[in-house]
Amino acid sequence: MCGIFAYMNYRVPRTRKEIFETLIKGLQRLEYRGYDSAGVAIDGNNHEVKERHIQLVKKKGKVKALDEELYRQDSMDLKVEFETHFGIAHTRWATHGVPNAVNSHPQRSDKGNEFVVIHNGIITNYKDLRKFLESKGYEFESETDTETIAKLIKYVFDNRETEDITFSTLVERVIQQLEGAFALVFKSIHYPGEAVATRRGSPLLIGVRSKYKLSTEQIPILYRTCNIENVKNICKTRMKRLDSSTCLHAVGDKAVEFFFASDASAIIEHTNRVIFLEDDDIAAVADGKLSIHRVKRSASDDPSRAIQTLQMELQQIMKGNFSAFMQKEIFEQPESVFNTMRGRVNFETNTVLLGGLKDHLKEIRRCRRLIVIGCGTSYHAAVATRQVLEELTELPVMVELASDFLDRNTPVFRDDVCFFISQSGETADTLLALRYCKDRRALTVGVTNTVGSSISRETDCGVHINAGPEIGVASTKAYTSQFISLVMFGLMMSEDRISLQNRRQEIIRGLRSLPELIKEVLSLDEKIHDLALELYTQRSLLVMGRGYNYATCLEGALKIKEITYMHSEGILAGELKHGPLALVDKQMPVIMVIMKDPCFAKCQNALQQVTARQGRPIILCSKDDTESSKFAYKTIELPHTVDCLQGILSVIPLQLLSFHLAVLRGYDVDFPRNLAKSVTVE
Ligand code: F6R
Repeated sequence: MCGIFAYMNYRVPRTRKEIFETLIKGLQRLEYRGYDSAGVAIDGNNHEVKERHIQLVKKKGKVKALDEELYRQDSMDLKVEFETHFGIAHTRWATHGVPNAVNSHPQRSDKGNEFVVIHNGIITNYKDLRKFLESKGYEFESETDTETIAKLIKYVFDNRETEDITFSTLVERVIQQLEGAFALVFKSIHYPGEAVATRRGSPLLIGVRSKYKLSTEQIPILYRTCNIENVKNICKTRMKRLDSSTCLHAVGDKAVEFFFASDASAIIEHTNRVIFLEDDDIAAVADGKLSIHRVKRSASDDPSRAIQTLQMELQQIMKGNFSAFMQKEIFEQPESVFNTMRGRVNFETNTVLLGGLKDHLKEIRRCRRLIVIGCGTSYHAAVATRQVLEELTELPVMVELASDFLDRNTPVFRDDVCFFISQSGETADTLLALRYCKDRRALTVGVTNTVGSSISRETDCGVHINAGPEIGVASTKAYTSQFISLVMFGLMMSEDRISLQNRRQEIIRGLRSLPELIKEVLSLDEKIHDLALELYTQRSLLVMGRGYNYATCLEGALKIKEITYMHSEGILAGELKHGPLALVDKQMPVIMVIMKDPCFAKCQNALQQVTARQGRPIILCSKDDTESSKFAYKTIELPHTVDCLQGILSVIPLQLLSFHLAVLRGYDVDFPRNLAKSVTVE
């Protein structure tokens, strides 16, 4: 959803211009998460004002517009150096209140900007808190849930029992009143050069850069006792003081920089040394020292947070020669699928080893059923592999949309194994479904693309799909890598089933040749562009298929609607005569996916039904399929692979088609309206 970025330079002199540039660049890296408005809070530029002053600059629209506004409003010499400075920045994707400057973040406590805060997530009890604060005389200016947090911290500060209350104590008291999901970073005129960050349910990490050796690689957690129950008791907690000997700091002159972000892609160009915060961790920087404390013990019960080294390279998240991240990611698929299999599939011995699952394999083999849960594209990856999972595991497999699964209070038992498929690893619905299954003691398995994400941390075990960062909002390479990960799981499960050995070998051979076959499909790009030229003015596009390729149709239609804004529907060809056939006439563009698999004959029936209504089908078919092409208005011929992997090849022309249609219709492919990459609210 929204993107958080904050930067502190401690005893590392930076000019005002350098600070602006760091904040803006951080936001640009996060822009894909949310993009209707943006804002920053920096130290004030007014020399006349003797006391401390925080300057807020906010703007509706893209980060570029904020960048221009920042320079327009600033009257301070850009060469002025700050030895220590803390700036916070935010890109917003509206959840409460329309996109405008007032509703964008940072939100402030009062007109004097005493406390400012940036927030990613959603506060579900904000109305009650707002009512309480209004009753105390606080005046609200925005429609956001976030403003409540800014006002609440001021309320706690104004009603503090001791003068020397720490910044982190204030934040601790605030978050005890909050319900919902959040990642928060605070700045205050009362605590110059200090930062406090915290999270619950939304991701937040801290990058550390120093030319000096850090005093520790593990930050011990400080636990504090607290008895706050409700707003009335808000200021009654007694805190232990932080012990500075347990804090992280650089040795020597302790020059150090901290980068706070909701996503590693904003940090990686500055440092690869990061700390992932857990739910309810409160990280505070004071005097250049970072400490973490919490009131509750963490879910993991780990008494420290390690400074980890991220393996991600900056060029992995840059666009390269492509016009959009989505296009780059489509073309990366020969490598990304290879990376998903690397070190896991042994093509000599026909074995598959998923390291993250091996210790749980016995338990999984004994389970009653598999439940595979996800949203959007990730759900489609579950639909695409359901049949082969049923075949290879010989277990009943349920596939579930996370939101619907929760709405139904679906019965889950301790001998169920539940898979959570999520590119980001942060999708709120999927995360809630995970917690629901955990409460019912099922074994939980994460399949994510984001190391350190909430889903990867909260599941009992899992598979990292290794597709590399996916920036385009429309998911492409994550889908094919999720698909392969699930197939690999099926193969690992069936290793000792004698009756399945031939089938396993066939699939493993298919996996081996996939990268080359994907390249062959990508070489059809120009042909697909020509097809897009014919279709881009249409209002609707139907995509039909069945069996292994039903998911291809759902996923193709989702790609088309989300970035081209055309109406598109993925239709199960077996359902055609039960309703959708009424849509078919000679005007309606119809794409049919007909592959040489066990459903081929049935797909021919569907083709006849379409042509009999004067439909003019564009057929995605196998290269050697002379039968289907006789009835086609146009064909896109694809290389053939084993039936259960064919969906990996057949989805790519639809990814390319949606990309070209969106470009021809003049839309911003990477930033489709109303959508965000990581959906961290229900
Ligand atoms: C579509 C798309 C979304 C996501 C969905 C789940 O292109 O990207 O449908 O697939 O929001 O996201 P993750 O996989 O991050 O849980």
